[in-house]
Amino acid sequence: MPTKDDILKALSSVQEPELHQDIVSLGMVQNLAVCGGAVSFDYVLTTPSCPLKGMMELEATEAVKRVPGVTQVKVKMTAAVRKDPRLASALPAGIGNVVAVGSGKGGVGKSTVACNLAVSLAADGAKVGLLDADIYGPNQPQMMGVAGWQPSADADNKITPPSNHGVKVMSMGFLMEPDSPVIWRGPMLHGAIGQFFRDVLWGELDYLVIDMPPGTGDVQLTLCQSVPLAGAVIVTTPQSIALSDVRKAAAMFAKLNVPMLGVVENMGAFHCPHCGKDSEIFAGGGAKTLADKYGIPLLGAVPLDPGVCQTGETGRPISLSQPESAPAKAFRAIARQAAARVSVLGRKKPLEIKLTVTK
Ligand SMILES: Nc1ncnc2c1ncn2[C@@H]1O[C@H](COP(=O)(O)OP(=O)(O)O)[C@@H](O)[C@H]1O
Ligand SMILES: [Mg+2]
Repeated sequence: MPTKDDILKALSSVQEPELHQDIVSLGMVQNLAVCGGAVSFDYVLTTPSCPLKGMMELEATEAVKRVPGVTQVKVKMTAAVRKDPRLASALPAGIGNVVAVGSGKGGVGKSTVACNLAVSLAADGAKVGLLDADIYGPNQPQMMGVAGWQPSADADNKITPPSNHGVKVMSMGFLMEPDSPVIWRGPMLHGAIGQFFRDVLWGELDYLVIDMPPGTGDVQLTLCQSVPLAGAVIVTTPQSIALSDVRKAAAMFAKLNVPMLGVVENMGAFHCPHCGKDSEIFAGGGAKTLADKYGIPLLGAVPLDPGVCQTGETGRPISLSQPESAPAKAFRAIARQAAARVSVLGRKKPLEIKLTVTK
């Protein structure tokens, strides 16, 4: 009959594909039980959004099946997202990893990417928050279907955020009069952003996704410097005009030592439902060039699709409301790639964020 040691030895031959280490020494095999020829164990991934989940399960199952005497293998795929240790001193306990979605340019789809990233991660089973830090044009209340929500503070001056589609949402939009211009001066801005982190009862979160305002100004610097970010997702459209602005945002993250998780190319080829052909409305294909320049992955490409816009307007992100559509599939893949990068970067080298202001 096989012993636990036999099974662990077999599983030691299985490598975690991103970390290139065996899954036993990484502590990913837990609750191993061997009863006669029947083997069961938990396979604890670093994120429930692991893009290689299916393949990893198969590989581990096969490895155990090859052990003589094994007749049955039951693997329970589960996940434990590691908390970024640097957050302990910066934020209230509970928040695991902070991921910013940014771009040097407005209108490229940051908010769309941020909300679809958040709901895709939540749909995979992660605990997710979405912080709309675009104080100039907060879109998340509408995109996430929580417009009109009224914040109220408890006795300790803490705010419980609303939740929809499995994601907790906080936005400057909740605190502003509709259609009124906002004029922020430096200290107010810093105060407001600090409050978003400290005074919102986020609870336990694997990922807090931040929808950044466009550009590389005061808010962006404050955000990057008040909290150690697990990484940034850079959003661009394919054409080169967008890219020159996006390059500035990428340069800002690089200067501030914020690791870049990768580039998302949004508003790519439009698939015509009438003739069945693809049209490159915004030609250029420059996201790949940007990714290559900074040595970061292209996380994925989202097509230009009226469904993305409509579902944004009605507060039902396409990743949930039309899960089989091409944009939904792209967003799901992007979310999983980004989550995998957070895991890998967090394990490999906990980056020291230097809190220096760069001009
Ligand atoms: N892939 C896409 N296909 C169609 N419309 C899109 C797509 N991505 C974004 N949009 C639309 O473009 C507009 C700008 O997107 P938004 O996410 O608000 O950009 P940003 O936050 O960068 O300013 C929105 O109306 C949004 O619905
Ligand atoms: Mg926006």
